[in-house]
Amino acid sequence: MRHLIDILDFSPAELTALMDTAEDILAAPGKYAETCRGKKLATLFFEPSTRTRLSFEAAMYELGGHVIGFSEAQSSSASKGESVADTAKVISCYADIIAMRHPKEGAPLVAAMNASIPVINAGDGGHNHPTQTLADLFTIRREKGRLDHLTVGLCGDLKFGRTVHSLITALSRYEGLKFVLISPEELKLPSYVKKEVLRAQGIPYVQTTDLEGSLPELDILYMTRVQRERFFNEEDYLRLKDSYILTPEKLRGAKSDLAILHPLPRVNEISVAIDDDPRACYFKQVLYGKYMRMALILMLLKEAGRL
Ligand code: NCD
Repeated sequence: MRHLIDILDFSPAELTALMDTAEDILAAPGKYAETCRGKKLATLFFEPSTRTRLSFEAAMYELGGHVIGFSEAQSSSASKGESVADTAKVISCYADIIAMRHPKEGAPLVAAMNASIPVINAGDGGHNHPTQTLADLFTIRREKGRLDHLTVGLCGDLKFGRTVHSLITALSRYEGLKFVLISPEELKLPSYVKKEVLRAQGIPYVQTTDLEGSLPELDILYMTRVQRERFFNEEDYLRLKDSYILTPEKLRGAKSDLAILHPLPRVNEISVAIDDDPRACYFKQVLYGKYMRMALILMLLKEAGRL
């Protein structure tokens, strides 16, 4: 059974195939409108989410399928003490595919080990968020025409930002990448990502606290919010939350073909004055995410012999 728990579960060739499918859906959505007729996606969201959950739901509806599920742990049997393993076994009797978000790192993996249907990790704690990475990769490919030979700046909460961890891991497989890691001292990229992904493959990176000074060399700027829910105390959050705010003035030194991405939700990291700048890609990224989730659902259901 194929699942998507970690972005490395898919080869670069498979990611390319998914992006090609997403491109095809984008060009001719009508062709796909009935492809999942009678199939059910279960969205098991043990942690709040608007975008990702609704993106999965919209994706399944646009494929002609149905959606069942819950959007908070309180309304599931987890509140009665049910294990993730048992929930996965139960839902396997009701649905054809699962999208799971959970505050605990590794929970979707446990689900995958116990389910008899494909499981998609829709975000596990501060760990990974591979379907956001699918949206990010597709956005970069559409904006830059390639995924190699890019200088990618990631800015904000690189410690708790799971989208950052998955994106760096995914991009590490393309040639000629360079990373500029921009964060406050306290929110630096975890050393396991630096060691296992960047240093292990000899990928050049710099760590800095300086956004403005880094901007001129970037092809991609990936802004992130400070992850309030993963802080141990509110004071630290309040002190760090506005560390970086991208404004039109700061953008002056940036390349004219820079692509600015953000997984959203945005808090203060990007001034709304930038939204109309042609370099702002974050709302397109949301749309591309839906198409990538459609492509992913199709692929996993086919591989599971359910389509
Ligand atoms: C991200 C997440 O949940 O990690 N949001 C999303 O899925 N688009 C980013 C975030 O919450 O900051």
